[in-house]
Amino acid sequence: MRIDIITVLPELLKSPFEASILKRAIDKGLVEVHTHNLRDYTTDNYKTVDDYQFGGGAGMVMMIEPIDKCISQLRSERDYEEIIYMTPDGATLNQRTANQLSLKENIIILCGHYKGVDQRVRDQFITREISIGDYVLSGGELGAAVLCDTIIRLIPGVLNDETSALTDSFQDNLLAPPVYTRPAEYKGWKVPEILLSGNFPKIEKWREEQAYMRTKERRPDLLDD
Ligand code: ADE
Repeated sequence: MRIDIITVLPELLKSPFEASILKRAIDKGLVEVHTHNLRDYTTDNYKTVDDYQFGGGAGMVMMIEPIDKCISQLRSERDYEEIIYMTPDGATLNQRTANQLSLKENIIILCGHYKGVDQRVRDQFITREISIGDYVLSGGELGAAVLCDTIIRLIPGVLNDETSALTDSFQDNLLAPPVYTRPAEYKGWKVPEILLSGNFPKIEKWREEQAYMRTKERRPDLLDD
């Protein structure tokens, strides 16, 4: 898989890919992540990417021309299945979207800034608009990093234990059950007896019940889906 990220702040998108699972996925050649500085696609000396909005009003708007140039350049090199725009008014990211996107070959992620992008960018180029939650970030970069993390860990071969993504919270619209490790007793606080029993069918059943109860208590909306 290849992910191209278009941004005015490429430095914000360095460290998430330089550690842990995402780094390993890149090192193993399972994913390529390329960031493109939008200012490299400007033509004026000031490398201008934004301008005042027509009709007046506070806040700058990202101009269509540098974005068009960058997207057109990338599209001339390969086909893209999705061009995603990170924006607080997009569809809220969930595990289903992450699953779908992890199956794609090439995607572009455009990070918004200021008041957002000229609407014509959204109308002409964007196939999907994604928000990472009902709050406003300073820009789309941190959202893009979150989106990339959710996608990349699902690519086969990225996680060591292939089954561990399958038992994540949300994977079956259920939250994950509680987990414990050694010691079996700490300051008198005990691990549930069943987990020490070695009876794996019973343990599995207990985990399913716990996942269901936790979901019912904390996120009943997931059970309605
Ligand atoms: N840009 C600003 N806020 C955002 C959000 N909540 N999700 C994605 N991109 C954003």
